[in-house]
Amino acid sequence: MRALEALELDSDADFDAVKAAWRRLAKANHPDVRPGDADAAVRGAARVAPQLKHVPSAWSGAVLVCGKCSKKIDGGFGKKGRTPLAKVLRKILGLKKGRKAPLGVVETRCLGVCPRGAVALIDGRDPHRWLVVPQGADVAELAARLAPQPDAR
Ligand code: FES
Repeated sequence: MRALEALELDSDADFDAVKAAWRRLAKANHPDVRPGDADAAVRGAARVAPQLKHVPSAWSGAVLVCGKCSKKIDGGFGKKGRTPLAKVLRKILGLKKGRKAPLGVVETRCLGVCPRGAVALIDGRDPHRWLVVPQGADVAELAARLAPQPDAR
């Protein structure tokens, strides 16, 4: 019922009326229609689903690292070759966990690539090209590539 109210429809609205109202709301809050208003889409969704909240973050991007790959190679990185890739990346980049860091490095479940002797990684700023990082690879070089850009926000 709340969704119908947010769409400014009566409780007896039919499917076509709901669809048209939803499209009108989505169009009005689409980022392409409001290029300078980054929160428009969130506001539009919050109108229909008021339980959604906006949590600010300093992240300029998110790097997803397969935690299962790291476990399969017993860490595989660092001086002794026993530290997980995500942890080594955070250390080299001087990042802490949490939303106040300039870049998020997050361990995930299996990403579905499952390389042997390597770790699958996705840079959220370039999601079309996933990386496979071989065990013991030069993480400093990878970290330089993934480092947060100062003007990314
Ligand atoms: S175990 Fe890492 S991608 Fe599947």
